[in-house]
Amino acid sequence: MKLTITSKLPSAGTSIFTVMSALATEHNAVNLGQGFPDFSMNEELMRLVNEAMHKGFNQYTPMQGYIPLREVLAEKVESLYQTIIDPGSQITITPGGTYAIYTALTTVLQPGDEVIIFEPAYDSYIPNVEINGAVPVLISLQFPGYKIDWIEVKRKITPKTRMIMLNSPHNPTGAVLSEEDIVQLRSVVKDTDIIILSDEVYEHLIFDNVPHLSILRYPDLLERSFVCFSFGKVYHCTGWKLGYCISSSYLMKEFRKVHQFNCFSCHSPSQVALSTFLKNKDSYLSLASFMQEKRDYFLKLMGQTRFGMLDSKGSYFICATYDKISDEKDSDLAIRITKELGVATIPVSAFYKTGTDNKVIRFCFAKKKETLEAAVQKLVNL
Ligand SMILES: Cc1ncc(COP(=O)(O)O)c(C=O)c1O
Repeated sequence: MKLTITSKLPSAGTSIFTVMSALATEHNAVNLGQGFPDFSMNEELMRLVNEAMHKGFNQYTPMQGYIPLREVLAEKVESLYQTIIDPGSQITITPGGTYAIYTALTTVLQPGDEVIIFEPAYDSYIPNVEINGAVPVLISLQFPGYKIDWIEVKRKITPKTRMIMLNSPHNPTGAVLSEEDIVQLRSVVKDTDIIILSDEVYEHLIFDNVPHLSILRYPDLLERSFVCFSFGKVYHCTGWKLGYCISSSYLMKEFRKVHQFNCFSCHSPSQVALSTFLKNKDSYLSLASFMQEKRDYFLKLMGQTRFGMLDSKGSYFICATYDKISDEKDSDLAIRITKELGVATIPVSAFYKTGTDNKVIRFCFAKKKETLEAAVQKLVNL
């Protein structure tokens, strides 16, 4: 008898990131596609991990995470967002931001529940909802500013709406939430039992002195939220896969039930290292200007090309239109410029379930100056 299983994600294929990175390698292209830095991470942080290993921090940490790390995170939340959270009951260290998101969804969702997701969306959201038997309710951000249409959100709320997923700063567009978005969000969830999932993995990468409107600033919203973070994304070590989730004690208790039978506890030496590293506030306060400099440099270079650069207020991504260059589909253009010019990017249609094509591609500017220069030198030929 032929062995078969029923796929839980029948429509999932290889992600566009894997496809474009493979194409980039095949054609020896400059890779501005996948979101990872090509420069070295902080030397001091590396040294601290090494030291932690040599000091013997190589066994399991508590299931919730290394206590001094949770304490320093609670201090950081208080100093950045003026909200007091209990490191004992409200923070859990996780193996990355994606895992924190998946765990939060799995904690809450029952089959048939509806989850509002804004598109373009980070690629794990829809499969993470579907694998729990829940239903993604998709709403397009308004092109080209990628703002939330709150009237449409109100129209799409039903008695089955269980969660709303937010992402600010936003991948792939670099959009950020405004005060008005928070007002609207509050009015949408008021007197409901809707839970908010706030993906804030780019928390510190926000530009032009705009404050990050973390859900952590609003205790009434935090009561009903899971707020997810990634050390890998902000400390230029995506391969570490380490992050954390903050919630109310009530929700976090349930989150931990799911977490303890999946990952149980995360990499110990990096938690120990971060607990020391984060005591220095500059370790996170300096990140925005560091990345803004890269955005501004890339924008200046791209001024020599015929791309129409869209606004990036945060994250390490910037999107561009190309109507002066061609009317190809965005995926065709992305593949062609990888093969012909040697520059890999990501077509933004890949972030829509049905492939909505506004003819936009995404660049990652978390790269060395030389990498950005090499890419633009090729792109001027388009
Ligand atoms: C919006 C968003 N959320 C979550 C993640 C994942 O973070 P981690 O690598 O810590 O799982 C990413 C990474 O690209 C992202 O862009």
